[in-house]
Amino acid sequence: MESTAATEVAIIGAGPAGLVLAHLLRRAGIGCVIIENRSRDHVERRVRAGVLEHPTVALLRDLGVAARLDRESMTHRGVEFAFRGERRRIDFVERTGKAISVYGQQEVVKDLIASWLADGGALFFEVDDVVVHGVEGARPTVTYRAGGVEHRLEAAFIAGCDGFHGICRPSIPAGRLTLADRVYPFAWLGILAEAPPTTDELIYANHDRGFALYSMRSPQITRLYLQVAPDEQLERWSDDRIWDELGRRLPTDAGFELRTGPIIERGITPMRSFVAAPMRHGRLFLAGDAAHIVPPTGAKGLNLAVADVSVLAVALERFLRTGDEDGLVRYSELCLRRVWRVQHFSWWMTSMLHRFDEHDTFAREVQLSELDYVTSSEAASTALAENYVGLPFATL
Ligand code: APR
Ligand code: PHB
Repeated sequence: MESTAATEVAIIGAGPAGLVLAHLLRRAGIGCVIIENRSRDHVERRVRAGVLEHPTVALLRDLGVAARLDRESMTHRGVEFAFRGERRRIDFVERTGKAISVYGQQEVVKDLIASWLADGGALFFEVDDVVVHGVEGARPTVTYRAGGVEHRLEAAFIAGCDGFHGICRPSIPAGRLTLADRVYPFAWLGILAEAPPTTDELIYANHDRGFALYSMRSPQITRLYLQVAPDEQLERWSDDRIWDELGRRLPTDAGFELRTGPIIERGITPMRSFVAAPMRHGRLFLAGDAAHIVPPTGAKGLNLAVADVSVLAVALERFLRTGDEDGLVRYSELCLRRVWRVQHFSWWMTSMLHRFDEHDTFAREVQLSELDYVTSSEAASTALAENYVGLPFATL
């Protein structure tokens, strides 16, 4: 059996990039279909970072998908850094007039899917064998299998929002893309624990034993991370060992208490920086993790994906409405400027906060001096804060 359908924009991937793009296009009156190779349950349960930049929250509000976010998210007006036995705070609101929202990425994904489907949006889960064809021509197609049926989706454009391991970037001929890559010599072991957070803000800890991060998801759930070896095995970390190591690396002053509780989720995240350029090949446009990834220090992945599609939606709308190609031509360059700003920030935060085996006394002291400076100088803390709360999205 075979079925053929047509739309204006075929979106591959129902992560934050694909879903936000779909909402933006629908608001602009442009037809689109999303196809996703995992199940709805899987994408809604995938635990990722949980920091939403100021411009990301503004866009979600603007799209009318922030009702639960506004009720349940936690507004953080600053962040703390722990090092050399001290805690230092950077006040985002004081430095920039803006705050961030702590709300799990999978909660954003749940809200976007529910509202998309409630208004009759087309979204197909558990599709297989997704292949893009003819992107160098004027009428590309996507073929895939779903429920034993071969589907063919014709579109004016294809949005490759299928993440780092998707098929869109690899479908671009070798030699057309320039790849920039850094793999870090460590990974993060992350847990979700049923333990009420004891501080109002995140704590990034630089410790001789390695980095640790104290974060949260709700007044009942703490989210915690530990720097571990890049090839670390999760089985080697018993609950006791995790809590013991967190206790050693996180602050020990009287104002901080590490509350323990049942660990309800755990995983190891590799650390990598990656950018593929340009983010366009013919009528295929890459957005989000399909084009670039950042290490999680600073929690920029989702925010960068949303920034990309905020530009892509306008470029597509202008072309489809008026034939004006300017936005499509400038899409990649415009996105990459912000992508590289965020790449630098994520790499810098990662470099400043982790333990590097090759560090000698000189390198270690320089690292601690940078933390001391960034948390005490008004100029330096403003620079950190404006990047953390999110620089404005580019406009076409
Ligand atoms: N066909 C259809 N869908 C696919 C395919 C495929 N061949 N391959 C992957 N996908 C889906 C994935 O299952 C996933 O749901 O594409 C989606 C990509 O979503 P994300 O990986 O969440 O990427 P993105 O939307 O760009 O969001 C970036 O997510 O990866 C995190 O840390 C990252 O927070 C950042 C954010
Ligand atoms: C998280 O809460 O998952 C989180 C917060 C900040 C980061 C990374 C992850 O830098």
